[in-house]
Amino acid sequence: MGTIEIERGMVKYITSDGEIYYVKQHFPPSIPPVTERTSQKLLVPERFFSYGPIEKIVSLLGLGRCNVVTVKLAHEMHLTFEEFEMLQEMVGPEFYFSRAAYQYTPDTLPHKDPETAMGYQIVLDILVRNWDDGDRNMYMVSGIPVWFDFGASLDPRCQNVYRFLLKLQDAAEAGRVSSIELYFKNYSRQREKILEAAIEVFESITQSEIRTIVQVSEDEFSGFFADYLVNNISQISEDVDIIRGAFLSQKTADKGRIFYEPILKQTFWRQIK
Ligand SMILES: Nc1ncnc2c1ncn2[C@@H]1O[C@H](COP(=O)(O)OP(=O)(O)OP(=O)(O)O)[C@@H](O)[C@H]1O
Ligand SMILES: [Mg+2]
Repeated sequence: MGTIEIERGMVKYITSDGEIYYVKQHFPPSIPPVTERTSQKLLVPERFFSYGPIEKIVSLLGLGRCNVVTVKLAHEMHLTFEEFEMLQEMVGPEFYFSRAAYQYTPDTLPHKDPETAMGYQIVLDILVRNWDDGDRNMYMVSGIPVWFDFGASLDPRCQNVYRFLLKLQDAAEAGRVSSIELYFKNYSRQREKILEAAIEVFESITQSEIRTIVQVSEDEFSGFFADYLVNNISQISEDVDIIRGAFLSQKTADKGRIFYEPILKQTFWRQIK
C-alpha cells in the first residue's frame, strides 16, 4: 500500500518502499488501428499523445546506457483496488508511472560526467526522435542531468530525419530548445569522441533486444515500433551526421546566431522531392 499526493497539479504515487512516481494519464490513440484487407498492413495513427508504452520503450532502451528514469505501466505497480480507483478519479481512466528524477543519485546513474551524459542522451533521442529533451524534461542531480518525459518520441511522422529536424526547429521557436541543439552549440573534439562511443553502444543493440523491449511495453503497435527502431539503429550514425551537419553549418553561416531555418528547410525539401 502506497500513498498518493498532489504537487503543483501533478499526482504522485509513493510506494511502501519510498519510491516516488509521477502518475501520467495514458491516452490510447484516437484513430483506432485498422488492418488493410489487401496488404494486411497495420495503419498507425498520425501521432501518439501521452502514450505509456512509448515512454516505457524509450526508458528501457536507455536503461544502463543513459541517465533516464524508469517508466512503469499500471499493471507493474501492484496497486490495491482502492488505489487504482483513486488514481482513476484523480488522473483519468488509464495511467502510467514515471520515477521521480530527483530520487536518483550519482552512484545509480550510468554517467557521472554531465557532458558524457548529454552525448549519450542525444544519441538516444535522435534514435527515438525525441525532440522534447530540453531543460523542462531534465533534472540535475548533484550537477548530473537525468532525463524524464519521453512522450514526444517515436512519432510516426518524425521517422524521416528531415522532418525530425524541422520539429526540433519548431520546438526551439516555441521556447523548448532541445538538448541536441545545445550539445552542438559548444561542439568540441571531446564531444565528438563522446558521440562516437555512444553511437557504437546504440549500434550494438540487437534485434532480439528490440523485440523484447517492444513486447514488454506495447501490444497494439509492436510490429510498427520494432521496425521503426531497427531501421533507426541501422542508420543512427548517418542520422547523427545529418543533424550535426545541420546545426554546425547553421553555426558557421550565422556566426553563432540561432537561425537555421533556411538551411533546414532547403535540405528537407531537397530530400523529399
Ligand atoms: N519523472 C519525473 N521526475 C521529476 N519530475 C517530473 C517527472 N515527471 C513529471 N515531473 C514533473 O511534472 C511536470 C510535468 O510532467 P511532464 O513533463 O511529464 O508533462 P508535460 O505535459 O510534458 O509538462 P511540461 O510542459 O512541463 O514538459 C514536469 O515539468 C516536472 O516538474
Ligand atoms: Mg514534459
